[in-house]
Amino acid sequence: MAEFVGKKRNKYYLGRKPVVVVADPEMLRQVMVKDFSSFPNRMSLRFITKPMSDCLLMLRNERWKRVRSILTPAFSASKMKEMVPLINTATDALIKNLDAFAESAEAFNIHKCFGCFTMDVVASVAFGTQVDSQNNCDDPFVRHAQLFFSFTFFRPIMLFFAAFPSLAAPLVGIIPNKKRDNMNHFFIRTIQKIIKQREEQPPEQRRRDFLQLMLDARTSDESVSIEHFDTAHPVGEAHNRSEQNQDNQVGPQERPQMKMITEDEIVGQAFVFLVAGYETSSNTLAFACYLLAINPECQRELQKEVDHFFTRHESPDYTNVQELKYLDMVISETLRLYPPGFRFAREIERDCVVNGQSFPKGATFEIPAGFLHRDPEHWPDPDKFIPERFTPEAKASRHPFVYIPFGAGPRNCVGMRLAQLEMKMALVRLFRRFNLLACTETKVPLELKSSSTLGPKNGVFVKIERRHWDESQVNSPSED
Ligand code: HEM
Repeated sequence: MAEFVGKKRNKYYLGRKPVVVVADPEMLRQVMVKDFSSFPNRMSLRFITKPMSDCLLMLRNERWKRVRSILTPAFSASKMKEMVPLINTATDALIKNLDAFAESAEAFNIHKCFGCFTMDVVASVAFGTQVDSQNNCDDPFVRHAQLFFSFTFFRPIMLFFAAFPSLAAPLVGIIPNKKRDNMNHFFIRTIQKIIKQREEQPPEQRRRDFLQLMLDARTSDESVSIEHFDTAHPVGEAHNRSEQNQDNQVGPQERPQMKMITEDEIVGQAFVFLVAGYETSSNTLAFACYLLAINPECQRELQKEVDHFFTRHESPDYTNVQELKYLDMVISETLRLYPPGFRFAREIERDCVVNGQSFPKGATFEIPAGFLHRDPEHWPDPDKFIPERFTPEAKASRHPFVYIPFGAGPRNCVGMRLAQLEMKMALVRLFRRFNLLACTETKVPLELKSSSTLGPKNGVFVKIERRHWDESQVNSPSED
């Protein structure tokens, strides 16, 4: 990665495209929030095909705004509560699988277990399909999803295409890619079949999942204006018109986008869970477990909090996981050290001046989250795992744009709440029942890969054991 000195700005060329790497937090605030309307898009990849081309990550300008305004309410707190039973079912399978590894007492790759867990969540929440990917790798959904990641579009060859789009576009048209087409058709057909089934069912019998929320969105009057897209600052909910104040007057510039989402777009948004939600969440879970295995004192601190939690609650849900302050700090610190979205971009649509510096139309801003998260100017001992960096006081004392694991502004991660819910529900149950142990197979430091998301290169190997439990405890950790 480029080295930043002085002005915290650097430049390189991706083919003929200038890319300006900006690591100055104030300048990032300007690009991502204050002047958002000048930088609403990521880098365009013209050669991608459906359903990828219809997914929110890729959409641009007015089409992005319309789909995001429809999609944002589907990630509201009240909608996340409806996802809890689905996530709980996937967590049951995870705990069962971990039990088998505890029994064997052998080192195993916990990253793989989390891959299966998040795959089960994606299938259930976004595709209305129940799978048990750990025990049934032959399930067609699991096979096709794995195929997708075998040609992820961030591979070096795809970066080459991004750099020379005019060269890539005709090539993509003529290179037959039967596997890719099969995979795309599989996902399109799966969703189309479910949409048809749901339409034939009476409303009260329809499964409550994200797909249904999107189908309902076609006829509901819930949508939010761009001011409320930022999931990290959820003022949006207070302005969610159908949940709150129907009389709330909005000015013309705030008016929600016209509602309409096509069937292709619904397929594209289900697909986004796979593209944006699968690897990011499973990598974070694996990184957190790696860090807790090699920092046993932090693991004990977390278990203390978790045990106390279970004296008050039977099982985790959307509301009660908010009480787990230390777990929240552990996840935040994990995402600081290992942000799966370690860099992202904004296109420069027209010649512009940001913080007194000029940038040409056609160039791209690159936002190096991974670099910012370890900048010693903001993080003393940057390579150390210290969850206490995320107490409310510590957070208030830092510039907010030196920590951006979910991006920032209206184009930030729309799935942030779902990701946090899913990770917390898995970890609270895991640490209630098990201890994680570093062993000779645990690679320290961890080897990383950064081809698409930042992830462990060769998995995370640990041992796991059932916790010994004092019989006098109010609630035993037994999940049986
Ligand atoms: C730990 C888990 C996750 C991390 C670290 C993460 C991180 C990110 C980052 C860095 C971005 C780019 C933000 C920007 O450009 O400002 C992003 C965008 C996005 N993420 Fe996530 N993400 C996670 C989980 C999820 C999940 C579970 C979903 C489920 C749908 C999701 C859906 C999206 C979408 C749709 C976008 C594009 C938003 C838009 O362009 O409007 N993410 N995410």
